[in-house]
Order: sequence, then structure tokens, then C-alpha cells
Amino acid sequence: MFKTEDFIFHFNKEELPEQFTTTGEAPSNIAIVKYWGKKGLQLPMNTSVSFTLTKSKTITTAHAEKLSKPHDKVLFSFLFEGKENPAFNKKLKDFFRRIEAYAPYIKHYKWHFESRNTFPHSSGIASSASGFAALAKMIMELEQKIRPENSPEFHLAKTSFIARLGSGSAARSVAGPVMIWGKHNKIKETSDNYAIVWDNLHENFKKVFDFIILVEEGVKQVSSTTGHALMQQHPFKEKRISIAQQRVIQTLNALETGDWELFGKILEEEALMLHAMMMTSNPCYLLMKPETLKIIQSLWDYRKQTSIPVYFTLDAGANVHLIFPASYNNQIKDWLESDLKLDKNYISDYISS
Ligand code: DP6
Repeated sequence: MFKTEDFIFHFNKEELPEQFTTTGEAPSNIAIVKYWGKKGLQLPMNTSVSFTLTKSKTITTAHAEKLSKPHDKVLFSFLFEGKENPAFNKKLKDFFRRIEAYAPYIKHYKWHFESRNTFPHSSGIASSASGFAALAKMIMELEQKIRPENSPEFHLAKTSFIARLGSGSAARSVAGPVMIWGKHNKIKETSDNYAIVWDNLHENFKKVFDFIILVEEGVKQVSSTTGHALMQQHPFKEKRISIAQQRVIQTLNALETGDWELFGKILEEEALMLHAMMMTSNPCYLLMKPETLKIIQSLWDYRKQTSIPVYFTLDAGANVHLIFPASYNNQIKDWLESDLKLDKNYISDYISS
């Protein structure tokens, strides 16, 4: 396991290439056991487990020109889908400041980034996870040029560590198919600092679909960052942490033994607990919409009638993720399009190993 100090970087200016151009991409991820609540600098209150998606990605190109002397802040321009975005610029400034000690070479360059998502930005898919993971990959590619002797294990851990300093869930978007982030006493190698790959997936989980039903597009009323902060004083904080830690073990057992029923039970309990935390925060808030509840109820009815192992999860928003084995793809599609009349209002993605 690596410690924070292991990621501090020392170098000579002469080691830096004059120019650096690269393209990095990273997928979004969907949490099974949710990261909800932070401590310190972007460290999770509890361990989380996620599936890494395949098609919903951020693709970013970076061009860096070496400066004659380092600037005191990172100099950059950033275009998202061809346009400047002041909200992104603020997030990026914070990110560069946080990673300065670990990637000090970035201040020796003037950077230009161009980024786009393969999914609609307004769709509510966590683009900060894929966005910061893509940035972390590119920065670490420059580091790999300077330190080619670094091991692949170190490289992956530090990429996740850097991504985490942009957005917590981004720590889990640097590899797959299943990622664990956050120290767990019963799981060796887990760390609050970065996520690790878990690959003991049973055959039953080798290809899993995630249909993301877009209930609400656009910016959420309450950001995840605000939601995390409300967990600090939450009346159910300690209970939430202990339940999450137990569910991580149960989830990994279900994934290892191929138990869809247990997996689905935890998946749905976690989604509803996440929203229950929001509804019982001070101030309280609600991100589900009437349509979210309608879809959940219809899903429960459909599952009862058909016995198809299709389950839902939610992120910090109103959209519903339907998670099911790939073999049921056509049946679920028909159900969505003919019974629920959802037509094209969903994104089809999958997890594969
Ligand atoms: C509900 O990673 O978006 O999606 O660290 O403040 O950027 P920041 O928060 P973020 O929180 C994600 C919360 C979640 C659950 C999860 O993905 O585990």
C-alpha cells in the first residue's frame, strides 16, 4: 500500500520535456455502495464500491509548452465542447492547487485542454468522475515520461490519488471493472487515498448492463459537494458509516458468488439510503422526482411478474440506473419502450471484464 508521502514528487527542471501533447480518456462509474460524506481533503467517510462503465466517457486532449521559469499558479485554458466554462475553471484551479505537491512539474508548463463527453453533459451522468480521471491520466502520462521506472502499481494508485483530489468518485474511474475506494479493515490494500481494482467477478457478472433513464436533465439544485458536507453533522452519520462498511463485504461476496438477488438487494437499499440521508440532512432536501418513484414502482412490479433480475440504483440526482445481466437486454428495452413509453430517453451502457 502507498502512503500520501510516496506520491510527493521531486525533479530537476532539466528532466522536463519541452512540449507535451496527449489525449486521455476515462469512463464514468456507478457506485453500488455509495461514497457519501468526506473527511479531511477529499477522503471518504466510508468505503465505496463501483462498476466502471464502458461507453460514457470523457475524452480530453492536452497540449503543454514548457515555460522559461515556473509560474506560481498553473497557467491553463480549458475548452469544454469547444467553449470556455467559468464554473469548470474554478474547479480546475482548486484541483491544480491541491495536486501541486504531488505533480509540481505542472507549474512549469502553459497548458491548453480540450474536452468532450460521449454522453450529454446535462444528462446528470457524473461527468466530474470521468473528467477528473481523464485529467489525472494525462498528468500521470507526463510523469511517466519523466520517471519511466515507476511501477504500473504505483502509476495506477497515483493516477487514482490525483483524480480523487479533483472529485472523490473520480478516484474510481481510472480502471475497472470493479473499484473499491476507502479503507476497509477487512479488505487488504484498501486506502482512503486511492481506489483499487477488484477483479474476482463471478461469470454471472461478467457483462452487466446499465440503462440510465434520464428523468431530469440539467444542473442539480444541491451539489454532491454540499451533500457530502451535510454528512459531517448528520444525526445518522455513525450508523450510515457502519452499514456501508458491512454492505461493502456483502457486495463483494455477492459479486464473487454470482448472487444477483443479494447484489440487487444491496444496490437498491444503498440507493434509497443515499436519498434518505439527503432527506434527513439539516437542511433537508430531495433530489428524487415523481417520475423517479414511478419508475421504481414499475420496476418492482415488473420484477415480480417476470422474475428478471433487474434492479435500480440512483446517484445524487433524479435519474434511475437499471442494472441487469446483459442477456436480458432486449426484454428490458422492450419493457422501457412499450410499457414505460420511455422511448429514447435513456442511455445504454455496460460493464464488462
Ligand atoms: C452520490 O464524487 O461527485 O455519486 O468528491 O465532491 O466531487 P466530490 O463528490 P462526488 O460524489 C459522488 C457521490 C455519489 C456516490 C458515489 O459515486 O459513490
